[in-house]
Amino acid sequence: MVLYFSATGNTEFLAKELAKRLGDSSLNLINRIKEQDFSPVASDKPFVICAPVYICEMPRFLSAYLKKLPLTGSDKVYFIMSSAGYSGISSYLAKKLAKKKGLRYMGCSEVVMPRNYFIGHYPMQSGEEIKERLLNAYEQIGSIADNIAKGKMLSSRHVYMFEKAITLPFNPVWSKLKLKAKDFAATDKCVTCGKCVQVCPLNNISIKDGRPVWSDNCTHCMACIGNCPAEAINYGNAGASKAKYNFKKYKHFLNDKNTDIHTPDPKIYKRRKNG
Ligand SMILES: Cc1cc2nc3c(=O)[nH]c(=O)nc-3n(C[C@H](O)[C@H](O)[C@H](O)COP(=O)(O)O)c2cc1C
Ligand code: SF4
Ligand code: SF4
Repeated sequence: MVLYFSATGNTEFLAKELAKRLGDSSLNLINRIKEQDFSPVASDKPFVICAPVYICEMPRFLSAYLKKLPLTGSDKVYFIMSSAGYSGISSYLAKKLAKKKGLRYMGCSEVVMPRNYFIGHYPMQSGEEIKERLLNAYEQIGSIADNIAKGKMLSSRHVYMFEKAITLPFNPVWSKLKLKAKDFAATDKCVTCGKCVQVCPLNNISIKDGRPVWSDNCTHCMACIGNCPAEAINYGNAGASKAKYNFKKYKHFLNDKNTDIHTPDPKIYKRRKNG
């Protein structure tokens, strides 16, 4: 069973490709996370957890959710981290998570995908660079699937002591200081579809007077800004299109591959009762 969270589609692509090649099923965790639904997940095949990298580790809201989620059946767990080039201490924390859950840690592979985060000083990536990353990832996911199918361990990035010493205390401080939602705003292009509300893993957005409003609990995952069908969301003075990454915009680079990309989870589009 391939379990995943994906804000802007990169990890979803990897998870679905992996599930397809393993003849296994995939489970998008977004609704479970939003509803804090801890009903057990059972699988006879090894669990494969796919996650993006946020500030050098798995998103903390995701690891917190996974810690409490009962996984039954298989005693093995693999991790796939979808990064923009540096997965930091992810493999160290993945191993710890597996141990806490009483599962056999089978390794943690990093797959480098296009960057989905452009707030601050991060430059846009060129179309060529995005294409190259997607094609490389497509190849890499094939060899990862082969290894999992053969029951082999995946090789994990070595994590140095200094990386733990920096990341573990730095992450919460950085998150508190930098990950603010006050600069998100919807323009007149908003069609009040509610999708931003639905894709926010932290339930940080609600609709008031026909427009989305953002509260303070934000992890800058970019799901709202990257999934708005009207491209109506801006973040401060980040370039209008610069911050709006979504894998779907670039999936044509994989057109000649037999991919099974981005079948939307219908529940995601269901409007929340309270707007
Ligand atoms: C808040 C935030 C922090 C990130 N931090 C890192 C990081 O430390 N290292 C890295 O390589 N990529 C980082 N990224 C990039 C994403 O991990 C990467 O683009 C990932 O493929 C996005 O997956 P998704 O499209 O499934 O959400 C970060 C992205 C976000 C939104
Ligand atoms: S996703 Fe975009 S169009 Fe839909 S409600 Fe949110 S801002 Fe408006
Ligand atoms: S409000 Fe923050 S946490 Fe929610 S979808 Fe937008 S960026 Fe992600």
